[in-house]
Parts: sequence; C-alpha cells; structure tokens
Amino acid sequence: MWEYTDKVKDHFLNPRNVGEIEDADGSGEVGSLACGDALRLTFKLDERKRIKDARFKTFGCASAIASSSALTEIIKGKTLEEAEKVTNRDIAEYLGGLPEEKMHCSVMGKEALEVAIANYRGEKVAKEDFEIVCKCFGVTDNEIIKAIRENDLKTVEQVTYYTKAGGGCGHCHPKIEALIEQVRKEMVKEAPPVKPEKKKLTNIQKIKLIEETLGREIVPALKADGGDIDLVDIEGNKVYVALRGKCSFCPSSEVTLKQYVESKLKEFVSDEIEVEEVRP
Ligand code: FES
Repeated sequence: MWEYTDKVKDHFLNPRNVGEIEDADGSGEVGSLACGDALRLTFKLDERKRIKDARFKTFGCASAIASSSALTEIIKGKTLEEAEKVTNRDIAEYLGGLPEEKMHCSVMGKEALEVAIANYRGEKVAKEDFEIVCKCFGVTDNEIIKAIRENDLKTVEQVTYYTKAGGGCGHCHPKIEALIEQVRKEMVKEAPPVKPEKKKLTNIQKIKLIEETLGREIVPALKADGGDIDLVDIEGNKVYVALRGKCSFCPSSEVTLKQYVESKLKEFVSDEIEVEEVRP
C-alpha cells in the first residue's frame, strides 16, 4: 500500500473543480485510457487574462485525481506566464508529497497544463516531433528528458515512476539508460562551477594576504587614477585603511572602498572581510 498524506486523501475524496468548462479558452488532454491514466484540463481566463476557472476530468488512481485537483487550485488566479512555471514538483509539494512511484500523476498534470496553454495560444504540442522511446506507454524522448532534468532522476526505475516509460515489457530500458547518461552529462556541463572553498587562515596568514592583495591588486589600480591607500590596522575581519591622494577627497570614496577595495579583499582573502576608512 502507498503512504498518502492527509492532503492527498482530502483531494482524492473531495476533489475540487471537477468537470469541464463548456466555452473554455484552453483545453488539454494527456494520457490514454489504455495506459491507465488520462486527464482533460480546461480553463477560462478573466478580462485581465488570469485563470478565472479551471476544471478537470480524470481517469486514474487516487494520486491522479488528487494531482489534478491540486493543479486546478494552484493555477487559479495566475496569468498563463505564471501558470506555465508550475512544475510537477509544485503539484506534489502542494499535496504534501506523493509516493515516488506515483510521481507520474503530477507529471501528467503538468503536461495537461502545457497542452492546454498551447491550445489557447493556437500552438500544438506534437508528439510526432519526437521519438517514441517507450512503445508500451507511448512516452517520447522529450518527455523523458524533461522528467530527468526537472526531477534530477538518476535511474530507469525513477524514470518509470515519473513517466511510466519502462514500466511494461522493458525493451526500452537501454534507450532510457542512454538518455539518463546524456542528460546528466549535459546537466553537469551547465551547472555553475563550484567555488573552491577558501581555506581557514591564521591571523598572520590573513595579515600577509591582505598586504599582498593591497600591493598587487588594489594600490596599482588606485595609483593609476592618482590615488593611493594605506593599511592602518587589522582587527579580526575588519581592515582599517586610509585613502590618500585624489581618493582622499573623492566624493565616491565610499563606493571605491566597498565595491573595489572590500570586494577584492573578499575575493582573495576571506568573504568575511569588512573595510572601514580611517579619516585623519
Ligand atoms: S517499450 Fe517501454 S516498457 Fe515496453
């Protein structure tokens, strides 16, 4: 038996917004009865182009009904631009979580929303443009790639939980594995580089590094503009300096201190450095 949250049980037993809007602005249908789950979503916009009403009809298990009900509640009041940012994770989170084996129900909700928005815009979400990877459940490479990316999936089993692909004869497993490998490689390349952690410095190391950074990075740049800087004192992470030359009477000296001197010391010495000016 699956462990369902109280919210899932509530939305299953008392689903909100069941039905179909007759003169809907957008409608989308995904899944198929043959595959065990199907969902039809319709929505109506108000004069400010916000979703005034959203209704669903679904054929599926408790999670499919609860996910569809949650989806309609989440998107009501949103513009289409806001609604299209809703992810399957948002649907699952709204319900206090879904068993991982049932995450495909939240994905189905997200897909129905995409199709309905595309329908409103006169666009088509054409399955024919993509390769069907899992013939048992009619799941395309595009759907699998999206599920891997949006949910950080790592195994074929997880892909099955989120998309149903691979949950039948198993012939598609090698293709799913290849897609996981390809997408995860792309995700690593796209991830922002992890900043190497600055190592903890002793007081003497910190003082030396501050002096070096001032001499190498900061003083030459200020001198080039007719200014200069003297190190007055260091207390913990506080660095007291005196601006000299043109810098001492420059109206933007505060900006120079914070945005140039302090940021350079943060970059090369420690993120905790704070610079303060000592005036004569
Ligand atoms: S082709 Fe995917 S499970 Fe059969």
